Amino acid sequence: MAVNANAKIVIIGCGISGIAAAHRLVNAGFRHVRILEATARSGGRIKTDRLGGNIVEIGANWIHGPSEENPVFCLARKYRLLDPEALTPENQAVDVGGHPPFVPTIFCSSGRKLNADDIYYTQEMFAELLKESSEFESQGGEPWACVGDFIRSEVQQRAAEKWKDIDATTRSLRLCMISNMLKLECCINGAHSMDEVGLGAYGLYKTLPGLDCTFPGGYEGLVKNLMSELSSGLVTYNQPVRCVRWNNTEKRENPLTIECDEERIAADHVIVTVPLGYLKKHHSALFHPPLPLHKLHSVQRLGFGTNNKIFVEFDSPWWDADCEVICLVWEDEDVMVDQVPDVQRSWIRKLCAFTLLKPTERYGHVLCGWIAGHESEYMETLSEQEVTHTVTQLIRRFTGNPTITPRRVLRSQWFHDPWTCGSYSHPAIGCSEQDLENMMEPLPTKGSQSQPLQVLFAGEATHPYYYSTVHGALLTGWREADRLISHYSSISPSEPPKSKL
Ligand SMILES: Cc1cc2nc3c(=O)[nH]c(=O)nc-3n(C[C@H](O)[C@H](O)[C@H](O)COP(=O)(O)OP(=O)(O)OC[C@H]3O[C@@H](n4cnc5c(N)ncnc54)[C@H](O)[C@@H]3O)c2cc1C
Ligand SMILES: *[C@@H]1O[C@H](CO)[C@@H](O)[C@H](O)[C@H]1NC(C)=O
Repeated sequence: MAVNANAKIVIIGCGISGIAAAHRLVNAGFRHVRILEATARSGGRIKTDRLGGNIVEIGANWIHGPSEENPVFCLARKYRLLDPEALTPENQAVDVGGHPPFVPTIFCSSGRKLNADDIYYTQEMFAELLKESSEFESQGGEPWACVGDFIRSEVQQRAAEKWKDIDATTRSLRLCMISNMLKLECCINGAHSMDEVGLGAYGLYKTLPGLDCTFPGGYEGLVKNLMSELSSGLVTYNQPVRCVRWNNTEKRENPLTIECDEERIAADHVIVTVPLGYLKKHHSALFHPPLPLHKLHSVQRLGFGTNNKIFVEFDSPWWDADCEVICLVWEDEDVMVDQVPDVQRSWIRKLCAFTLLKPTERYGHVLCGWIAGHESEYMETLSEQEVTHTVTQLIRRFTGNPTITPRRVLRSQWFHDPWTCGSYSHPAIGCSEQDLENMMEPLPTKGSQSQPLQVLFAGEATHPYYYSTVHGALLTGWREADRLISHYSSISPSEPPKSKL
């Protein structure tokens, strides 16, 4: 390892993927590994905050599929960050295919509450359609371009058949519920509308077994533990990278120049982990020469939308003790829409559900509201008071109780975070597996004469089937570190060193 250990490796971004890459490289013996992070903190989209005395997750909340194959689960277990229930074989064995079996409490815009029976058939049909959506292969054989069109047309057909004996009011209400479920799906996919999520590629996303669990002490505990194993000088904070100059054929040694505001860093390799939202906006300034066209097209084609949370704390609960999710159904939305016509006036219609932070002893009476899309981006521009006011009106209307008043409200603002520019990625219309392959392809591309593996790409949006998750992001960091490790271990020892100290 002696010679190779001298390679200079820069990692852009100190989110979970950057941290994972640094870990692997340092453990493999590389001595010149640095992380450059734009903000003053590590963790990126893992961000734990407080609302009053309670822990809230501004970014990632769950370990999706906590079981042996999930590296986030295994690390969290090693660092003893999980509740005992999450560690049980029973919990690990539950396989719900990504949609936990919540029984929602549904409130309607007229102020009435629906029964479980009212919901059952709609939920069943929607679940079937999601499953069918994921079974198309991205080979151009799918009947519609987007998931939204597929679901709408199928619901219309199936409702005409299966629900033909049902009265018009109930049938209309069921279609309104579909609108609500589409909006929730926008949150899950990080999309403005399910009309923007490609039907062919919807099934690329893979789930792991295990009933989703949270970190009782906050997701950032994972980041803190990992960071404590890296040497303290490894990360430079408040150091945004402005430009990566690559493909310099003159220089064999440290061919890359990484430009920051006050520093230029020479390096042999750079691992870029900036979010896809940032890449979409800043790719032309960030890469010199520019990204090859096929890669750029994939950056543009893949979707990166906004999903935000609005935490609302109450002095006392106005929901039943066994309630897990509260859904809000507008009774005038039987055209199955997941976008509001007038964002400024009716953005709040996109806030489709609240999940409960449980257990109450730990979190108090806190609801987490979910809102995706352009409506969510608009919400970010409003004052906290305005958001509080509008959410209060919403809850009063749907419960029919004009006295409910939140104690405190806190919301995330991921779209206006200059280093994220949204929440997470999804395959948009026209995307295929090839786009994710292009995302992860290192530069220069195969066949080029210049130094290989100058620019490598990690991060959530570069995982072929766990995109949009923490475990996906972590695995991509390891993947790119391994790419460098195997590159150096395949170089014969007789070759001259790539770089001197
Ligand atoms: C609201 C929300 C809820 C979520 N919920 C879940 C969940 O429950 N479970 C789950 O598994 N996943 C969830 N996710 C997704 C998960 O948080 C991400 O997939 C994961 O954290 C991404 O890690 P990353 O390393 O790819 O990117 P990031 O964490 O975004 O790290 C990238 C880093 O790069 C930095 N950066 C950007 N530009 C520059 C620059 N020019 N120079 C230097 N540094 C730069 C950023 O500041 C950031 O620190 C959620 C995300 C959001 C937003
Ligand atoms: C990289 O440099 C080589 C040699 O100068 C050149 O042929 C190639 O076009 C360059 N690639 C890019 C993407 O600029």
